[in-house]
Parts: sequence; C-alpha cells; structure tokens
Amino acid sequence: MRKERIILYVAITILISVFALMHVYAQEDVFVVEDSAFKDNRQRPPALFPHDEHNEKARIEECSVCHHVYQDGKRLPEESSEGQECSECHKLKRQDNVRPLMKAYHDMCRGCHQKRKVEAKKLGPVTCGECHPRKTEIAKGLMED
Ligand code: HEC
Ligand code: HEC
Ligand code: HEC
Ligand code: HEC
Repeated sequence: MRKERIILYVAITILISVFALMHVYAQEDVFVVEDSAFKDNRQRPPALFPHDEHNEKARIEECSVCHHVYQDGKRLPEESSEGQECSECHKLKRQDNVRPLMKAYHDMCRGCHQKRKVEAKKLGPVTCGECHPRKTEIAKGLMED
C-alpha cells in the first residue's frame, strides 16, 4: 500500500514537472526577436518579445496584424505570412518601395506602443533600452554566441 502511494506521488511530480517545462519552452521559442538578417552586423542586443504572452496581454487576436501579406500596396486581411521572417520581404535597404527592415520593426512595434499610449491603459515600451535591454541574461547569452 505505502509503496503504491509513493509511486503515485512520484508519477504526479514527474507529470507536473514535464508540463511546467513544456510551458517554459513554448514561451522561450520566440522570447526575443533576433532577425537573421542582422546577424553579421548587430548593434543592439535582440529585442525582447515574449511572443504568445505578449499577444495575449496586448489582446491581438489576428496573426496577420504582424504576419501580413500585401498586394498592390494593400494588406490582404485574410492572408498571413507566419513562418516567414520579416526580412524575407523587408530587406536591409529599401527595395521595391518596401520599407527597410529596421524601420519595419520599429514602425510596427514602437508604432503600436505609441498609439496605445495615447489611448491610455497599459502601454508597451517605447525607449531603446526597454526593448533592447543590455543586462538581461537572455540578451547576454545571445550576444556571446
Ligand atoms: C505583435 C506582432 C505579432 C503577432 C500578433 C503574431 N506574431 Fe508571430 N512573430 C512575430 C515576430 C516579430 C516574430 C519573429 C519574426 C522573425 O524572426 O522575423 C514572430 C515569429 C513567429 C513564428 C516563427 C517562430 C520561430 O520559432 O521562429 C511563428 C510560427 C509565428 N510567429 C506564428 C504566429 C501565429 C500563429 C500568430 C497568431 C496566433 C502570431 N504569430 C502572431 C510577431 C507577431
Ligand atoms: C510576405 C512579405 C512580408 C512579410 C513577411 C512582412 N511584410 Fe511588412 N510589408 C510588406 C509589404 C509589401 C508592405 C507594404 C510596403 C511598405 O509599406 O513598406 C509592408 C508594410 C509593412 C509596414 C507598414 C504598414 C503597417 O502595417 O504599419 C510595417 C510596419 C511592416 N510591414 C512591418 C513588418 C514586420 C515587423 C514584419 C515581420 C513580423 C513584416 N512586416 C513581415 C511585406 C511583408
Ligand atoms: C498592435 C499593437 C502592438 C504591436 C504591433 C506590438 N505590441 Fe508590444 N505591446 C502592446 C501592448 C498593448 C502592450 C502592453 C501589454 C500589457 O502589459 O498589458 C505591449 C507590451 C510589450 C512589451 C512588454 C512586455 C510584456 O509582455 O508585457 C514588450 C517587450 C513588447 N510589447 C515588445 C514588442 C515588440 C518587440 C513588438 C514588435 C515585434 C511589439 N511589441 C508589437 C501592443 C503591441
Ligand atoms: C518597441 C520595441 C523597440 C524599441 C522601442 C526600439 N527597438 Fe530597435 N528593434 C526592435 C526590434 C523588434 C528589432 C528587430 C529585431 C532584432 O533585434 O533582430 C529592432 C532592431 C534594431 C536595430 C537593428 C539590429 C541591430 O542590432 O543592428 C537597431 C540598430 C535598433 N533596433 C536600434 C534601436 C534604437 C537606437 C532604439 C531607440 C531609439 C530602438 N532600437 C528602439 C524593437 C525596438
């Protein structure tokens, strides 16, 4: 009887740990944005971006708000480009009248944070250091690779 209980407790503990770990890994998938196009010449640490947690808190439901597809200068609201890096379309230098990569990120991320700031309530960060923190362990680890 006692032995069975111990086995049961051990099994439960293992299960809980597995779920906890899965949760951590799922969030760390895209904890920072580190676009591969910047990798040879990076000036700032990668930007903080806890993808799923962020979108939940900011209440963004449509993936295509960020993972968009454009045709003839118009966004196609039904289409989405998730799985593609932003740099597949936004190059380091402006090309075919598509805004360059760093501007694309800043316009999208900081742009929304600034807009929301006006609408009040909870805001996203707007200063360089809040988005590109130098001192977090995450940023350090990635910069030292
Ligand atoms: C606020 C903007 C935003 C929203 C909303 C958003 N994403 Fe993303 N997502 C990003 C950014 C930025 C990246 C990193 C892109 C890069 O590396 O170029 C990314 C990366 C990804 C990746 C690649 C993950 C990886 O491991 O590299 C997938 C898949 C993805 N998003 C799916 C989704 C899905 C599905 C939704 C809707 C449920 C969604 N995203 C909503 C901004 C967003
Ligand atoms: C499949 C190609 C494609 C992908 C992938 C893509 N974009 Fe775009 N994006 C465009 C095109 C085309 C335009 C219209 C030209 C312009 O305004 O620069 C545009 C416009 C924009 C704009 C201005 C309009 C707006 O929505 O405010 C921003 C900002 C932007 N993109 C940021 C991003 C970011 C950040 C990512 C990655 C999460 C991304 N884009 C992924 C093609 C793409
Ligand atoms: C459509 C609007 C919108 C876009 C686009 C957006 N954000 Fe945010 N962001 C928010 C809002 C709203 C909050 C505040 C959420 C809260 O805490 O309630 C926020 C919070 C944050 C935070 C604080 C951490 C957190 O999870 O609370 C970070 C970091 C952040 N955003 C980074 C980014 C980056 C990087 C991008 C571009 C890849 C981005 N955001 C795009 C609306 C947006
Ligand atoms: C709202 C968040 C946000 C703010 C605020 C912000 N950035 Fe960024 N920045 C990003 C994201 C997201 C990227 C693209 C992802 C990456 O780091 O690879 C980026 C990319 C960059 C890049 C190109 C990559 C590199 O490291 O060379 C530079 C340079 C940069 N930012 C500098 C700045 C400076 C300077 C400021 C303040 C004036 C600033 N950023 C403010 C989110 C932000």
